[in-house]
Amino acid sequence: MNILVTGGAGFIGSHTLVELYAAGHTAVVVDNLCNSSAESLRRVAKIVNVSEIPFVKGDIRDRDTLNALFSEYTFDACIHFAGLKAVSESVVKPWEYYDNNMSGTLTLLDVMRQHGCKNIIFSSSATVYGDPAVIPITEKCPKGQCSNPYGWTKSMLEQVMMDMQRADNEWNVVLLRYFNPIGAHPSGTIGEDPNGIPNNLMPYITQVAVGKRPELGVFGNDYDTPDGTGVRDYIHVVDLARGHVAALRKVEQGSGLSIYNLGTGRGYSVLDVVHAFEKATGVKVPYSIKPRRLGDIATCYSNPQKAHDELGWTAQYDIEDMCRDSWRWQSQNPDGYRK
Ligand code: NAD
Ligand code: UD1
Repeated sequence: MNILVTGGAGFIGSHTLVELYAAGHTAVVVDNLCNSSAESLRRVAKIVNVSEIPFVKGDIRDRDTLNALFSEYTFDACIHFAGLKAVSESVVKPWEYYDNNMSGTLTLLDVMRQHGCKNIIFSSSATVYGDPAVIPITEKCPKGQCSNPYGWTKSMLEQVMMDMQRADNEWNVVLLRYFNPIGAHPSGTIGEDPNGIPNNLMPYITQVAVGKRPELGVFGNDYDTPDGTGVRDYIHVVDLARGHVAALRKVEQGSGLSIYNLGTGRGYSVLDVVHAFEKATGVKVPYSIKPRRLGDIATCYSNPQKAHDELGWTAQYDIEDMCRDSWRWQSQNPDGYRK
């Protein structure tokens, strides 16, 4: 299939491109590079051994850019990653998040249908479950109250796509609810490259390990969890990427609306991750306990059975693989894609 990949220069997009090409698909990327670098696409091209990944630098809110793309290429489906994703920034700049994520996706969906491409895979998040009613979380678990505008954009966009699919059954919509993607391609040439101080756990750990930050702050050790620190379902980004390839097979069959959790089904605490990292890499991660972070929940992990049963997909990598590959990327590229 020929796939339009929005946000393909980013962390998950770049890894998904590798798996798409490995599975025999081709792709065209549209990305405005607001949180990424075109260098990632050059490295993807090297990994998959092609001269280049077709790329248009542009914003998905720009209808003309999208129309030009759909006029130049025929797409069988779109994998839609483009969006802003920093939770705390979304609290400070809600309009920017609603504009980018909502307007961008609404424009994309409209242009897609006008050009007769009605197959979409959407990057959603476990954040739509809010403080989950049941653990492990199945797709039947009701959606909850999001604690920030970023989360609401995911929740509302899911609703938009569900309603559009219900009104027009030519649409095939796959909503993928990611748990906590970490790790990097085993080559160590592509990975997560956050701007400024990382918000998320693993990039913070790797920056401490590489000497860029003195210590990790552990946000709270008084949660109702085995060691008091927050428990999450970390998933290797390569496994996550392969989940998209599996979802494409579903779309090809004319699947209508489908929703899947993409996680491993295992929960690890913050201190579990620190210890797994130290074991996998031999590098010490100094840390100290800090107050809880606003909006955090104690425990969040998936039941990934549905994706296994319907997509034939199961995560293959374990927490030590994730730590080892995150570290390989960080240690080989201490400044990310910046030279
Ligand atoms: P990322 O920031 O690395 O990638 C997003 C890409 O989209 C970037 O390359 C950015 O430049 C691009 N982009 C943003 N707005 C755009 C616009 N208006 N037009 C064109 N390009 C635009 O993030 P990621 O971690 O790769 O996440 C990809 C998607 O998955 C996002 O939608 C994110 O919300 C979602 N998601 C991520 C996580 C996670 O932990 N990384 C978890 C759940 C969901
Ligand atoms: C966060 C977002 C979520 C988003 C996801 C991926 C919040 C409340 N949730 O999830 O919406 O989909 O990122 O982008 O921000 N931790 C520390 N020290 C740190 C960083 C994190 O102790 O420096 C802890 C957190 O308290 C948490 C765990 O590590 O218990 C994981 O945190 P993080 O990587 O930010 O992911 P989530 O909070 O699960």
